[in-house]
Amino acid sequence: MKRVLIAGASGAIGAALAEAILAEYPDSRVVGLCRDPDRAPETLRSSDRVTLVPWDAGDSSSLASVTDALELVFPAREGIDTLIYAAGLLHSDTVFPEKRLEDLSADAMNQAFAVNVTGFGMLVQALIPWLRHKELKRIAAISAKVGSITDNRWVAGTPIAAPRRP
Ligand SMILES: NC(=O)c1ccc[n+]([C@@H]2O[C@H](COP(=O)([O-])OP(=O)(O)OC[C@H]3O[C@@H](n4cnc5c(N)ncnc54)[C@H](OP(=O)(O)O)[C@@H]3O)[C@@H](O)[C@H]2O)c1
Repeated sequence: MKRVLIAGASGAIGAALAEAILAEYPDSRVVGLCRDPDRAPETLRSSDRVTLVPWDAGDSSSLASVTDALELVFPAREGIDTLIYAAGLLHSDTVFPEKRLEDLSADAMNQAFAVNVTGFGMLVQALIPWLRHKELKRIAAISAKVGSITDNRWVAGTPIAAPRRP
């Protein structure tokens, strides 16, 4: 059996990956994390191969109930094969990409950092018992191309800071 955990399973990319994995691997089971499983896509809510578990990336105390629920589906001694972190925050009711210094908000930056950065690390830490096995484990975290400092030096394949040729 292929055992897959997807954080952000209710999102566009997380749900699409879950559906693709279920279709590609008939022996797969998916545990999906999101804040409100009742708001996850119907395709996942109605699948008997999917278990949706409440999790808030900004609240480390929710990890205990995640690991309790995970143990019932994938016992830690058997582990998981793949962890996909597809949770991400760019927009919400109170968070949006700032375009001016006047729009900066410490609270919004903290929320974005919690979902996009620390939530990933704390989840992987909580999953250590599911990841320490002899078999190969895969961990993938979905980000955005614009999040790459190295990549942002390039525009259409041309380095922005490239020295001009005489
Ligand atoms: N869509 C694109 O074209 C695109 C392109 C490049 C990169 N990306 C990146 O890919 C990632 C996913 O994008 P997406 O388009 O699938 O985003 P999305 O549809 O907005 O989904 C975001 C996911 O993150 C979860 N999430 C947000 N806040 C959370 C919190 N506090 N705790 C737990 N889960 C939380 C949401 O779950 P709930 O709100 O249900 O809890 C949802 O499952 C992001 O990092 C994004 O930057 C997307």
